[in-house]
Amino acid sequence: MATILIHADAKAAENATAKRLLDKIATKPDATLGLATGGTMEQVYAILIEKARELNLSFAGLKSFNLDEYIGLSADHPQSYRTYMNKLLFDHVDIKPENTHLPRGDAADPAEEARRYEAMITEQGGIDLQLLGIGINGHIGFNEPSSSLGSRTRIKKLAISTMEANRRFFKPDEAVPTHALTMGIATIMQARKVILLATGAAKADAIAAALEGPVSTACPASVLQFHPDVTVIIDEDAASKLKLRDFYESIHPGGEEVYFVK
Ligand code: F6R
Repeated sequence: MATILIHADAKAAENATAKRLLDKIATKPDATLGLATGGTMEQVYAILIEKARELNLSFAGLKSFNLDEYIGLSADHPQSYRTYMNKLLFDHVDIKPENTHLPRGDAADPAEEARRYEAMITEQGGIDLQLLGIGINGHIGFNEPSSSLGSRTRIKKLAISTMEANRRFFKPDEAVPTHALTMGIATIMQARKVILLATGAAKADAIAAALEGPVSTACPASVLQFHPDVTVIIDEDAASKLKLRDFYESIHPGGEEVYFVK
């Protein structure tokens, strides 16, 4: 079973997530991190920057691979995930820009770009710690329902619910991208450790389906039930539809976990 940590509120869940990233950086300064974007991660990166400064922790030896990027947006587009990562994390720490990777959304041949990205992850030794959010439809990365559980980095059409959820990041008259390049589900499953963070009541159905439903392409995050080292960090709102919530809380009261850094 996954380690399921239910925290009182979003702030506590974000702190717990940032703490695990800091521990990984402290114990493996040359780690490869798999990173996510989206509203859920904004505070995680803010906490990470603040605590890394306090601890005098260097990111100079790290490598990073982000999960996904919108097709059609260049790196310097205000809504690209490259811009998000630069603004919210990379510009504030000493990670080497050349060691930070996202798929190139404006590649002339997106299918080739997907193959290049997947190969680069493998060539660089794989991902030590993959950070994930979850869509309201259970997607991880942009692996929407019906995604192959054996998929690798590729082009994906975004679900209507994903485009609607992401509209808030775009100007009212701006078109929301319809396609993305995303790591595949098999790519994500190869990460040596996975941390999934979800906060808020809007994620409660997806979390219940992912943790307690059948493993199915209908809820791509459910495949994590097969991952040998996954920690799910949620707040009480995101946990509100879990049938075995009392059991999870009895194992890790208040989301606390006695854990050993690997
Ligand atoms: C982002 C990503 C997505 C988001 C998910 C949740 O890189 O891969 O899977 O994690 O859509 O997004 P928010 O946090 O905005 O609800």
